[in-house]
Amino acid sequence: MDDWYRTAVIYEVRVRSFADADSDGNGDFAGLTSRLDYLQSLGVTALWLLPFYPSPLRDDGYDIADYRSVHPDCGTLDDFQRFLEAAHARDLRVITELVLNHTSDQHPWFQRARHAQRGSPERDWYLWSDAADGLAGARVIFRDFERSNWSWDPVAEQFFFHRFYSSQPDLNYDHPAVREAILDVTDFWLQLGVDGLRLDAVPYLFKREGTTCESLPETHRFLRELRAHVDSRFAGRMLLAEANQCTEQTLAYFGAGDECHMAFNFPLMPRLYLALERECAEPITEVLAQLPDLPPGCQWATFLRNHDELSLEMVSDAERQELWRHWAPDPRARINLGIRRRLAPLLGGDRRRIELLNVLLLTLPGTPVLYYGDEIAMGDNLYLPDRHGVRTPMQWSGTRNAGFSACDPQSLALPVVVSPDYHYMGTNVEAQDRQPGSLLNWTRRFLAARKRHAALFGRGALRILPGGDPGVLAFLRLHDSRRVLVLANLAASSRLASVDTSAIVQPPGAASPVRLRDLLSGHELTLAGPTLQAILEPHAALVLLVAS
Ligand code: BGC
Repeated sequence: MDDWYRTAVIYEVRVRSFADADSDGNGDFAGLTSRLDYLQSLGVTALWLLPFYPSPLRDDGYDIADYRSVHPDCGTLDDFQRFLEAAHARDLRVITELVLNHTSDQHPWFQRARHAQRGSPERDWYLWSDAADGLAGARVIFRDFERSNWSWDPVAEQFFFHRFYSSQPDLNYDHPAVREAILDVTDFWLQLGVDGLRLDAVPYLFKREGTTCESLPETHRFLRELRAHVDSRFAGRMLLAEANQCTEQTLAYFGAGDECHMAFNFPLMPRLYLALERECAEPITEVLAQLPDLPPGCQWATFLRNHDELSLEMVSDAERQELWRHWAPDPRARINLGIRRRLAPLLGGDRRRIELLNVLLLTLPGTPVLYYGDEIAMGDNLYLPDRHGVRTPMQWSGTRNAGFSACDPQSLALPVVVSPDYHYMGTNVEAQDRQPGSLLNWTRRFLAARKRHAALFGRGALRILPGGDPGVLAFLRLHDSRRVLVLANLAASSRLASVDTSAIVQPPGAASPVRLRDLLSGHELTLAGPTLQAILEPHAALVLLVAS
């Protein structure tokens, strides 16, 4: 089985914001291709590309008007293929978006549907109603922008259903032609050589009256069909579920190893921030204890931030209020049920906390997903609408437009960050390249060290250990005879970590003295007794490889 994704490090990139080769103010594939050296030097092994298809861009391209082409802002299909070849030549895998729940209202399928006869097969590609009161159990997700999941279409003279913006009508998955068309789109990109597909908004495909219209059995049945379809035609491809659901329902996207290969670890993500805020490991250990071993060949996609708001949909109301109060005191930072901030400003620019969360991202079970720009602690722009504030141009240098584009600064699709604390003059790749202690170089070193133990981190089991202090998260990763002990101080004060070494020395009492080497600093220590004790400075972490 080619399960490359289990030992991968994924880098999420917005093509439109990465590098602009033709100086039109938008990033493009030629620009992205020119920056592959950088991505290789960073040490990531796979790129996840945000939507780059023709679109009216009401939802940043998640409103697709043509599934088989490239938006002219981003280049051409030939440019995409050149990029794909260049990425593959460097052993970088490429993951693209399969937005299968909805299209843009500009898509020819919707245009045909709204003009077609009521009840005709063409009309039925979408969900129509004479009243806006059906499927009332389906929650409104973009609650700051939409009041209902139904909108009136004056052409069809009926309401249509949409889970997201009213410009994104939902496809009708009960229609066999719709399912067939989506399988064709899947084939189109996999035939071009794409290695993986992120299944956008996948819980919402099928709708049934009297339900929440989320994660229904019919949706899982379709995913099994999709998986079988992909497996029968292509080798070594990966399906990644974007299912922002409670733990049990998120797990369901792996099926019995016959649905998605990967799913984002939405249950874990907000609990990392809860633990940091409470200075207590329990929110993390509690959720990890609920996550069972995955079916063979499956893997979590672990993440700290992405192009959306930091979703607080799946925590309790009280936890959400607590997280909002702590991490987003500025109301402008709140959107829908989440927080629209990048990692660095979210954490108050605190390098220790940024590193601490990255240590957890890179050492907890799962394949880490890094969000572009977070490796240089890029800032955000709360004055931009929707989630655009976390999608600004990559900051390459202190020159015009942060080295992203040679265009007239006024023609940039999104402005570069110029707030004093995250200004591109100071926060950029070129400057951090030169500083051995920069976050960029710290990330490079960590990724290089992690790569040497990719199987341990990617496939290893997890054992949570008592850390001796409520603020200390202690866990062991084990794979074959290899072990790594991670100690992380979630507190803002120094803490004494204290770990029973019988968990580390296998079999207990054997092969002493045991030597441990910190992956981050290279320092070595020798176990001297039955308990390992270490004073951890505020927000400090140790990643201790056990010498075999
Ligand atoms: C994407 C969002 C998008 C939504 C609707 C999400 O899950 O990550 O950016 O707005 O799907 O397509």
